[in-house]
Amino acid sequence: MNETLIDDLKTTSMDASLSWNLTQNRIVVSDKQMINCRADLNQLVPFKYPWAWEKFKRGCANHWMPDEISMAADIELWKRNQGLSDDERLIVERSLGFFSTADSLVGNNIVLAIYRHITNPECRQYLLRQAFEESIHVLSYQHIIESLGMDEGKIFNMYREIPSVNAKAAFALPLTQNLADPFFQTGTLENDQKLLKDLIAFYLIFEGIFFYVGFSQILSLGRRNKMVGTAEQFQYILRDESMHVNFGVDVINQIKIENPHLWTAAFQKEIIDMMKEGVELECAYARDTMPRGILGMNSQVFEDYVKFIANRRFTQIGLPEQYEQKVNPFPWMSEMIDLKKEKNFFETRVTEYQVGGALSWDDE
Ligand SMILES: [Fe+2]
Ligand SMILES: [Fe+2]
Repeated sequence: MNETLIDDLKTTSMDASLSWNLTQNRIVVSDKQMINCRADLNQLVPFKYPWAWEKFKRGCANHWMPDEISMAADIELWKRNQGLSDDERLIVERSLGFFSTADSLVGNNIVLAIYRHITNPECRQYLLRQAFEESIHVLSYQHIIESLGMDEGKIFNMYREIPSVNAKAAFALPLTQNLADPFFQTGTLENDQKLLKDLIAFYLIFEGIFFYVGFSQILSLGRRNKMVGTAEQFQYILRDESMHVNFGVDVINQIKIENPHLWTAAFQKEIIDMMKEGVELECAYARDTMPRGILGMNSQVFEDYVKFIANRRFTQIGLPEQYEQKVNPFPWMSEMIDLKKEKNFFETRVTEYQVGGALSWDDE
């Protein structure tokens, strides 16, 4: 990079947090914007988006650590001959193979790609919290892989070597790479749409669709009293992820409100096509990980579930449903995600933390 380019980069940086001058002009709410904001980003209050601050506080209140959860029963089951069927082992290995890298990808997208372009301090507080949660998730997967004595080379290279896992990572990588380019700046129609597309790809597709087959497979095992330590960690992760998705939906909708010119018919079509492609990849992942059916379920049920979830993702950002699937084949998953249970989760955990901590698998 030559010196002129470096100077340009410094002087044209859209991150107003880099400049600060003595002034009597106080920041008012109307100065604040989700993207392309020129107000001082170091100043948190006055809030424009109290929901972002609330989510930040709720995320902190839900703090958990993977090594608080015992892996003893999982280790015994994993190492016992005939403890799990080959199909069940495949599910566990594929899930850990996908998620162990996927959460690094999401963390990198926040830190390297979107953080700079979301120009609002209360949202950045949540992004900092989310980035930390993603690192806890990575720790959780590593804790499970190490506890079970898995072949780490095999698991961590799955996103390079197994087509159905690779396809999901490959889908998201170009979008984040666009924004991570140090010369990428928002402020034009094209680039603001690129940012919006990255947000939709990561929050609605990656975290909002790509996680759900793996989550529901592992939680199904847990409900059958298998791999309960792994499943308990996945349940905590799922609780975090459902908040990430909800935060992303709020940010995307706020950007739409503040920048209606971005939401053109052509752009909506592009988004619908991208989300449908994501659905296809997740259905392919379901087929690949459940070649014979398992847990009393088969890959078709999982495909129905993916389409049910995808319909919700479409409507959450104001797009029409694209699939016929109106019924949730896994109502117990909704129960686990239900944000109304958030407080209960936390209260439960605080109590149970002192006695070793355990989440209930009951259908309640
Ligand atoms: Fe995560
Ligand atoms: Fe996440």
